Amino acid sequence: MQLQNETQDFLPLLGTDFIELYVGNAKQAAHFYKTAFGFQGLAYSGPETGDKEKVSYVLRQHKITLVLTTPLRPDSPIAAHIHEHGDGVKAIALSVPDARSAFDQTVARGAQPYLNPHTLEDASGKITLSGIHLYGDTVHLFVERKDYTGIFLPGFRAWENNYQPKDVGLLHVDHCVGNVGWNQMNTWVKFYEDIMGFKNILTFDDKQISTEYSALMSKVMSNGNGFIKFPINEPAEGKKKSQVEEYLEFYRGEGVQHIAIATHDIIHTVTQLIDRGVEFLQIPDSYYEKLLSRVGTIDEDLAPLQQLGILVDRDEEGYLLQIFTKPVEDRPTLFFEIIQRKGARSFGAGNFKALFEALEREQELRGNL
Ligand code: FE2
Repeated sequence: MQLQNETQDFLPLLGTDFIELYVGNAKQAAHFYKTAFGFQGLAYSGPETGDKEKVSYVLRQHKITLVLTTPLRPDSPIAAHIHEHGDGVKAIALSVPDARSAFDQTVARGAQPYLNPHTLEDASGKITLSGIHLYGDTVHLFVERKDYTGIFLPGFRAWENNYQPKDVGLLHVDHCVGNVGWNQMNTWVKFYEDIMGFKNILTFDDKQISTEYSALMSKVMSNGNGFIKFPINEPAEGKKKSQVEEYLEFYRGEGVQHIAIATHDIIHTVTQLIDRGVEFLQIPDSYYEKLLSRVGTIDEDLAPLQQLGILVDRDEEGYLLQIFTKPVEDRPTLFFEIIQRKGARSFGAGNFKALFEALEREQELRGNL
């Protein structure tokens, strides 16, 4: 019965509203995400729209909205964030039916307030925003936009630019992964369970996710309708430094490790991304020798998957294809995953070993293994 679901779900979430990155140069980052990833310019705010403190460019591709924000003054907290972390994800904004209730419900359960609920208005209606703290300096924002018909948020104007490269078929955010410190995974699992009403749907221990050198542990948290999934990684003891430790060192703390974006045609999407200069982790040819015996029959030809370095994994419900970019900053921090699901709802555990060996080759080249 509907009523029961409503009473159980104290934090109904409609989806990912936007992801905001704090970056050193939003104008140039916007160009990169348009050129390399096929986003389109959507909206802009800055001094010309009345914001004297910062500039934001908003980009969109299908249901994914990225906000790129740069401070205009050195004493801005945004400048301090970039100084500490480099470019990275500040906010994962979630669409909610009621941003005041989302704030009240989560804060009552122990969330640290970040942004008190407040309503912004312009000629296109009103939006209520609120926010709570997450791991590190990262935050969740709650966005209530049911009474708004404008382009993004009040305070933004349409950003029109003659340069609109074709999209590459990136559809929506599939999941968004956080790296947290030693022994902190369960703290954040509890945060998502107790404060956000999420459930732990999958667990990987260090025996499943380990190579000769390094290991990590991961738990996947999902909200009630399954639209929002946040895996949480923590480092585990290995012979050498794990990739999560490298991230924590260079991001100087906990933060978003990767954003996974769904496509309906991964071969097309990845071909386009490579043509536009996006760099992906290289997968050894040996991975493909055993692939079909591991995953069984798949619809795709093996040759383009091998040529592009696309990984395949199967679970009880189907299979998935996935690939990981190299970090998109100079620091070895945030990267992207492209994923095509063909029934599978898992996260590619069967690929972890091949993937981590590829990651370690990169880490070794940086002298951090
Ligand atoms: Fe992922």
